[in-house]
Amino acid sequence: MKILSIETSCDETAIALIEARGGLEKPRFKILKNLVASQIKIHQPFGGVVPNLAKREHLKNLPILLKKLVASGCWLTPDLIAVTVGPGLEPCLWAGIEFAKNLAKKLEKPLLGVNHLEGHLYSILLNPDPPVRQTSGIVNIKSLFPAIALIVSGGHTILLLMEDLLRFKKIGETRDDAAGEAFDKVARLLNLPYPGGPNLEKSAKQGNPDAVNFPRPMLNQKNYDFSFSGLKTAVLYYLRENLETKAFSQGEKRFLADTAASFQQAVVDVLTAKTFRAAGNFGAKSILLSGGVANNKALRQTLKKEAQKKKIIFLAPSLKFTTDNAAMTAIAAYFDHLKNKKRSLRAKGDVNFN
Ligand code: KG4
Ligand code: ZN
Repeated sequence: MKILSIETSCDETAIALIEARGGLEKPRFKILKNLVASQIKIHQPFGGVVPNLAKREHLKNLPILLKKLVASGCWLTPDLIAVTVGPGLEPCLWAGIEFAKNLAKKLEKPLLGVNHLEGHLYSILLNPDPPVRQTSGIVNIKSLFPAIALIVSGGHTILLLMEDLLRFKKIGETRDDAAGEAFDKVARLLNLPYPGGPNLEKSAKQGNPDAVNFPRPMLNQKNYDFSFSGLKTAVLYYLRENLETKAFSQGEKRFLADTAASFQQAVVDVLTAKTFRAAGNFGAKSILLSGGVANNKALRQTLKKEAQKKKIIFLAPSLKFTTDNAAMTAIAAYFDHLKNKKRSLRAKGDVNFN
């Protein structure tokens, strides 16, 4: 079946057209078109996403992207339309929902509301690294379970225990800031431009991750929860106490790069330790990493190496499917369709999993 999907939960306007087949046993996806209009330039002067500006951009971009899709020649009437209903910024979600409703009415096609976090979760099936083969080859889908899924985005940091593709339960989450949010806030402390996460990673590449011994919050607690706001505060105090002296003796760029690298290392250490503690305790056969922070090469490489050591599978989507996109929305919609799951077509800003 062909699924046309729409994603406007934050600052990316995205439309995709996907061909899905294989059912729950052997799901396979072909991306016919994946369009994303980034709003980086709009929000950059404000240092973060401004919800009403983002909504205005979504309203402007959605018809443009749809036109592009039709003009690309791959437009064939979809069998199903899908739209993200939450979690996300409510004004932004509503822009997508209203657009999707009108389109579904015009095309006389069914419309499904999709959970954004499930989109991230299932993004591991989009050009995964390494590739997943359903029947034979490098990774067999059935061989992944039980799995531990780590979803790390701007709004969430969640550990899931997955029995199979559809059955999962949350075993841990952040008690305050999400990992991406911590990256963004620390980037601002370091005077790095929006978007914070990728720019902090760039700066960290020039720095020494062992330069500063920042705290590893909750590392030794025997639960699967996280906390990042104390780490952000530790960076703030470190900067206040050392900026003038160390930046003067080492040069400001070097000082900030060392701080960025040490902060990033602290986040990676905590995420890795908790993920593998869960994997060990639940006998996981794989680690599934997704969400915008999955774009971070230090995190990906550390999880991958640790998984190799422990002889379990590590899977993450290819880089372009880590941050918000509509292809992942279509995959989640396919599974909802197969499960006959219907969500209310109302924006739900803070819904987690439902
Ligand atoms: O999943 P996503 O695109 O949107 C949400 O659902 O929140 O994630 C965006 C988050 C932002 O906080 C962004 O700074 C972070 O992912 N991010 C990164 C990197 N790329 C994006 N964080 C660290 N390193 C990166 N390379
Ligand atoms: Zn997201």
